[in-house]
Amino acid sequence: MKKGMTRREWINRSATLFGGSLLGAVTGVKSINAATINSLSNKPVRMMLNENPYGPSQIARRAMRKAFGESNLYSMRGAKAEFKELMAKLNGVTPAHIAVGFGSGEILKKSALMNGIDKGELLSPSLTFETINRYAKTMKSNVKRIPMKNDIGIDLNRMNENINRRTKMIYLCNPNNPTGMLMNTDDLESFCLQVSSKAIVFVDEAYHEYVTDPNYRSMIDLVKSGKNVIVSRTASKVHGLAGLRVGFAISTPQIVKRLESYLTDSLNIVGLRAAIASYQDKRFQTHSVDMNNKAKKVVADYLDTKGIQYLDSQTNFMFIKTDIDISDFQPAMEKYGVLVGRPFLPFTNWCRLSMAKPEQMQKFNDGFGKVLR
Ligand SMILES: Cc1ncc(COP(=O)(O)O)c(C=O)c1O
Repeated sequence: MKKGMTRREWINRSATLFGGSLLGAVTGVKSINAATINSLSNKPVRMMLNENPYGPSQIARRAMRKAFGESNLYSMRGAKAEFKELMAKLNGVTPAHIAVGFGSGEILKKSALMNGIDKGELLSPSLTFETINRYAKTMKSNVKRIPMKNDIGIDLNRMNENINRRTKMIYLCNPNNPTGMLMNTDDLESFCLQVSSKAIVFVDEAYHEYVTDPNYRSMIDLVKSGKNVIVSRTASKVHGLAGLRVGFAISTPQIVKRLESYLTDSLNIVGLRAAIASYQDKRFQTHSVDMNNKAKKVVADYLDTKGIQYLDSQTNFMFIKTDIDISDFQPAMEKYGVLVGRPFLPFTNWCRLSMAKPEQMQKFNDGFGKVLR
C-alpha cells in the first residue's frame, strides 16, 4: 500500500485500475461510474448508443442496493405489479393498460411476433429504429418500407396510401431514431385516428422525456379512448437504466393481454426496483434533460459556426451531415477519443451523435475540427 493512503483509498484506486468490476464486487466499495473510468483511463467517450451519461440516479442506485437483498426471491411478480401501478398512475391509465417488457426492445419484438402470427404485413418508414423490422423479417413476415420525405421526416400521407388488406401493424417512432425529429402532433393524431380501425399503430416513444417542443403530445390519449394503438416507453434513456432492461407498452387492455401472452416475463428484481425509484425521481429526470440540452447546444453552436447541417433533434442524439463517409468518419473520430453512431443507410455521409456530458462534447468538436482539416 502506498504511504499516506488509507486502505479505502487504496482499494478504490485499485478498483479503478481494474475497471472497477472485480474488486468492487468483492469488497463492496462504492461502484465507479463509467464517466469516472473514462476520465481516468482516457477511454474514448461513448457517443454511439444514445445512453444517459448520468444514470442511474442516486435514488435508483439506493433502490438497486436494497434490491440485492431480494435477489434470492422470486419477488418479480409483486415488483412488476407495483411498476405497472406506478406507470398507470403516471400516465392516467389502469394497470390493465400496461405490459412490462425486458426493455422496450422486447415489446417491439413481441409486437412483431404478434403481427407475424396474424400473418400481417408491417408498414415502416425507411429510416427508423430497426428492432421491430428486423424481428419481423426473422419471422419471415413482410415489411413494407416507406421512403422518407425530402426533409428526412416520416411521410404519413405515403404511409396511409400504402395500407392494404394485409397491413396489420404500422411502426412509427416519435421522435424518430436516428433523425431525432418529431412528427407534427396533429398530423400524427389524425393519422392514428384514421388508420387504427384497419391496423394497430405502434408508436415508439423511447425519447418522450427529452422532447422540449411545446406542441408535442404523446399518443397515449388515443389508447385511453380505446384506439388500436400501442405506445412504448423505456427506462433505458432518460432514466439511465439501459443495462437493466426495463421497458413497457401502454395499450388497450385487449392488446395488452394478447401482447403479454408472448412476453417472456424475464424481468429482474434489481431493474424493476431501480425503475420504480427512478420514475419517481423527477429531479434526476429534469437534470438529465437539462444537461442533454446543454450538450446539444455545445455541438449545435460549433456546427453553426462551421455551416454544417444537422436536424432538429428532440432526443439525446443529433443527426449531422458531416459529408464524410461514416465508414471513414467513425475510425477517424475514434482516433480523437470519440465513439460515434453506426451507419444509417442510405445516409452514409451523416453521423448519429449521442450526447455525453456537455463538457465532453468539446472533445467531439475538437476531433471533428481535426478531421475536417
Ligand atoms: C427508438 C428506440 N426504441 C427502443 C429502443 C430500445 O430500448 P430498450 O430496449 O433499451 O428499452 C431504442 C434504443 O436505442 C430506441 O432508440
